[in-house]
Amino acid sequence: MSETAKLTFYKDYQEGEVDKRLFSSFIEHLGRAVYGGIYAPGHPSADADGFRGDVLALVRELDVPLVRYPGGNFVSGYQWEDGVGPVAQRPARLELAWRTLETNAIGVDEFARWCRLAGTEMMMAVNLGTRGVQDACNLLEYCNLAAGGHYADMRISHGVKDPHNIKMWCLGNEMDGPWQIGHKTAAEYGRLAVETARAMRMIDPDIQLVSCGSSSPSMQTFPDWEAETLQHTYDEVDYISLHQYYGNRNGDTKDYLAQALGMDEYIRTVIAACDFMKAKKRSKKTMMLSFDEWNVWFHNSEADNNLMKRHPWQIAPPLLEDVYTFEDALVAGTLLITLLRHCSRVKVACLAQLVNVIAPIMAPADGPAWRQSIFYPFLHASRYGRGKVLLPLLHCGKYDSVNHTDVPTLETVAVYNEEAGEMNVFAVNRHMEEAVETTVDLRCFENAALREHIVMCGSDMKTTNLPGGRAANLRAGCSIAPLPPHRGTCTGLPYSGLSKLPAITAEKVVCPHACMWMPNPVYSILLFQRLP
Ligand code: AHR
Repeated sequence: MSETAKLTFYKDYQEGEVDKRLFSSFIEHLGRAVYGGIYAPGHPSADADGFRGDVLALVRELDVPLVRYPGGNFVSGYQWEDGVGPVAQRPARLELAWRTLETNAIGVDEFARWCRLAGTEMMMAVNLGTRGVQDACNLLEYCNLAAGGHYADMRISHGVKDPHNIKMWCLGNEMDGPWQIGHKTAAEYGRLAVETARAMRMIDPDIQLVSCGSSSPSMQTFPDWEAETLQHTYDEVDYISLHQYYGNRNGDTKDYLAQALGMDEYIRTVIAACDFMKAKKRSKKTMMLSFDEWNVWFHNSEADNNLMKRHPWQIAPPLLEDVYTFEDALVAGTLLITLLRHCSRVKVACLAQLVNVIAPIMAPADGPAWRQSIFYPFLHASRYGRGKVLLPLLHCGKYDSVNHTDVPTLETVAVYNEEAGEMNVFAVNRHMEEAVETTVDLRCFENAALREHIVMCGSDMKTTNLPGGRAANLRAGCSIAPLPPHRGTCTGLPYSGLSKLPAITAEKVVCPHACMWMPNPVYSILLFQRLP
């Protein structure tokens, strides 16, 4: 006997419109993210500027609308002027956050060029660790003023005529963390952030500003930090940031698969803190959330700490190069679903990071770039998750794990695109032992056919996509063809890639119900299409 589940979606039961910036990412001057990742002049795929073509192709495939830059912890000691002007004259600096040597071969102008090639925009962070108001203004002028001021003219003298027009700016990074260079108390940060925000808006009133929230909900100061800093910044900023990383540190997959519940609670608490401040200030403005660092991060932490401790001041050492497994991809799927479910308040979310450093894309020095397991849930959310979020009425089993209670067996949400006549159902089956026979009630979406069913499933939770490895087969693929009435079967791995199967015709799908078999555990997307 398998478990059963029922999902009902109503067109009018919507959470809101998905902001495409929910599928953003992050590149920090850390490890081999910049040097070796996006920029590797010696690589066979590199262009005349040294940008890796293989990496660019995969970034374009993910369709990332916004990339946060240049950090991260790195930004709190960064002197941005080091990274502009003639490359030969740029100084090498000790980079304290990750204890490496920063050559400054890449700076804001080069990164802006890379963003254009990648079809993305830059989200810039200013240094509020070792620097402050004046420096943030100088950088903003350098980036956004057409001409006339000292720093705008400096940019022009560097051969960059047009301003970068960067819209989103982070006021520092994780300033609540004692590890942060120039760490601050909430009162200190709140004052500095609000004064920086005011001055920056005098230069460019159209920018959007992100105030630092806590660096994780596990911080002792969470959520007082949010309340106290917002007391200062509420009227001057547009977003508050959230950061959280997840991991299977105790080797307990059942518990690990439930960690999205923690993300959900974290988002709700930050919303509560924002709305408390809104009421307190009698404000008409609703604060939005920028979840600008999220991912799985735990595989290499010990080795990374050792490397930084024992072999400091290397140029671009391999740091945070976690290799992701099938279970990490399932967790990434649940996290993306959770972000989608909060789309009315979470407007920006950055998968941290993008290349080589806790990343969906790996770029070895001596070979082609490859896709990690977590590449696929992100790709599919970015590709099929644009539209209006429909919240499900969900009937399914529940379980308790060490740190979570009442964990639903299915994590699910749908994204509806009226114009295209499409409704895409995202689902992860967390069940460790059983398949879940799932009925999707489509009464609200008459005359629809299941066009495609993409799944990622397998029995080995620790399978990775390491090139040449035993299990180089973690690839999401189309699996249902055809879908018999009331019952579909997922074929097993390996899949043949992402090529589309011929559209499944109406008579092969039962409307208003589509029923499918969800093997355990699985990450799955059902793409429904309205028939003409
Ligand atoms: O993404 C890696 C690091 O995680 C970032 O530099 C920092 O902001 C966070 O602690």
